[in-house]
Parts: sequence; C-alpha cells; structure tokens
Amino acid sequence: MAAKTALIAGGTGGLGEGIVRVLLEGGWNVWVPTREAEAGDRLASRLAAVAEDRLHVFKADLSVPAELEALRHHVISVHKALDLVVVSVGSSYYGYSLHKIDLVAWNKLLSENLATHFHLQQSFLSQLHAQNSGTYITLTGPEADFAHPETGLMSIMAAAQKMMARVEALECSGTNVKVYSVTSKTPIATRARGEQIASDWLTPGELAKYVKSLYDGTVPGLQDPMHVIESRDQLRKLLKLK
Ligand SMILES: NC(=O)c1ccc[n+]([C@@H]2O[C@H](COP(=O)([O-])OP(=O)(O)OC[C@H]3O[C@@H](n4cnc5c(N)ncnc54)[C@H](OP(=O)(O)O)[C@@H]3O)[C@@H](O)[C@H]2O)c1
Repeated sequence: MAAKTALIAGGTGGLGEGIVRVLLEGGWNVWVPTREAEAGDRLASRLAAVAEDRLHVFKADLSVPAELEALRHHVISVHKALDLVVVSVGSSYYGYSLHKIDLVAWNKLLSENLATHFHLQQSFLSQLHAQNSGTYITLTGPEADFAHPETGLMSIMAAAQKMMARVEALECSGTNVKVYSVTSKTPIATRARGEQIASDWLTPGELAKYVKSLYDGTVPGLQDPMHVIESRDQLRKLLKLK
C-alpha cells in the first residue's frame, strides 16, 4: 500500500514535532512548512532516526498565501493527494487586560493565530475538497472555554479557531472530507515548558496518537467535529496506552 501523506503546519513547534514523529514512525510522508531554515534543520536532526527520506521541510510563511499555494502545488506534484492536514499553529500573549492591549499586539496576534488558520484552510482544506478526500484537524488550547483576566486575547483566538472548525465541518457535509477540532484540557508537556511539567500533562506523542486515531477512525464520537481530551488518564485508557 502506498505511504500516506500529511502536511503538519506548526510541525517545528513543541506540539507539532510529536505529531510529525508519530506519523513518520507509522511510515507516512510528512511535509512541514517553516519560516526559519534553522527550525527545519533542528526538526530534521531530532527526527533523523525515524525520517528516512519521508520528512520534507519547506520554507513558507503561513501568513503569506502565495507561499502556501507554492507549498500545496509542490506537495501535490509529488504525491498527487493529501491524506491528512494538521494545524498546530499559533503564538501566545499574556499579562495584559483587554482594554490595555495596543493595536499592534492585537493585529500581530490576529495574524499569527487567525490569518494563518484562514490561509491554511484556503489552500489545504480547498485541496481536500478538490480531491473529495482527506482529514483536516486543528489543535486548539482549552482557553476558548474560560474567561480569565489578562489572558483574554488567547481565549478570543482559541474560540475563533474552534468556531472556524465547526463551520468548516458543516461545510463538508455530503463530502468525503472530514474536519475536527481537538482540545486538550490539560497542558501539553512540550520542550518549551521546561521544568514546569506535571505528571498528569499529556505528552506531545500522546496527543499525536489521538490525532492519528482520529484519522484512522478508531476513537469514539467521529460524527462530532469537536473533540475534547478531558485528562491524560482518559486519553491513555481510550488509546489503550501502557
Ligand atoms: N502547548 C500546549 O499546551 C497547547 C495545548 C493545546 C493547543 N496548543 C496550541 O497549539 C499551537 C502550537 O503550540 P506549540 O506549543 O507547539 O507552539 P510553538 O512551539 O510556539 O510552535 C508554533 C508553531 O507555529 C508555527 N508558526 C506560527 N506562525 C507561523 C507562520 N506565520 N508561518 C509558519 N509557521 C508559523 C511555527 O513555525 P516556525 O516558527 O518554524 O515558522 C511553529 O511550528 C498553538 O496555537 C497553541 O495555542 C498548545
């Protein structure tokens, strides 16, 4: 059987790297856009043992539609179709009340957390629709569902990302394209968290296994586009992880 092909937007990030690894271990071809050649080199060197020749890092800025279209054309010219697109993209901004956030910061966050998601679905969800196949998964933090002083901008971005997925899923009805949003209620133990990590946090690899199981259709609730992981224990039981 031909190897499957995935595009992991944010694959150089703490969370995305885990997804890239799990897919490479499963024999997939994996494409990762990055703005920085060094980030791509770091990823390639960390995953060298599992990548063989199936990891493809592509220089592209997700806020520039022409660069995403170049990536899409390139991937499709090589593999003909995409099986899975994962969007694990965004940036953080904490420590300011909403009424004190300046317009420059607001616009930057909108660009990094929403315009990137907008451009990605324009190129890659459109590609899945053109093929009439494939799965599109967005990973969003839990802050969409709670209001907290001085983290409001992150809640607004996450809520908008989740609503995008809900709308996109509705717009797929009657097609073979699937859209899901995955939210983990516990933090993810990414490299950047350093010594803060607690034992009940999900690892990027565990989240990646959930994403792959969603693609494989082996988790419950496939008819619902909105997936919430309540806890590490719940996920480990569900996926029968030891
Ligand atoms: N960590 C958590 O606990 C957690 C939990 C649930 C959801 N999330 C969400 O998942 C997302 C990723 O989290 P993370 O911890 O992996 O973040 P991260 O390590 O900061 O990674 C962010 C990723 O986004 C990419 N990116 C951002 N803007 C881009 C642009 N304009 N063009 C190209 N790539 C761009 C970066 O790529 P380059 O820098 O290589 O270009 C990088 O791969 C965030 O939106 C976060 O809110 C995080």
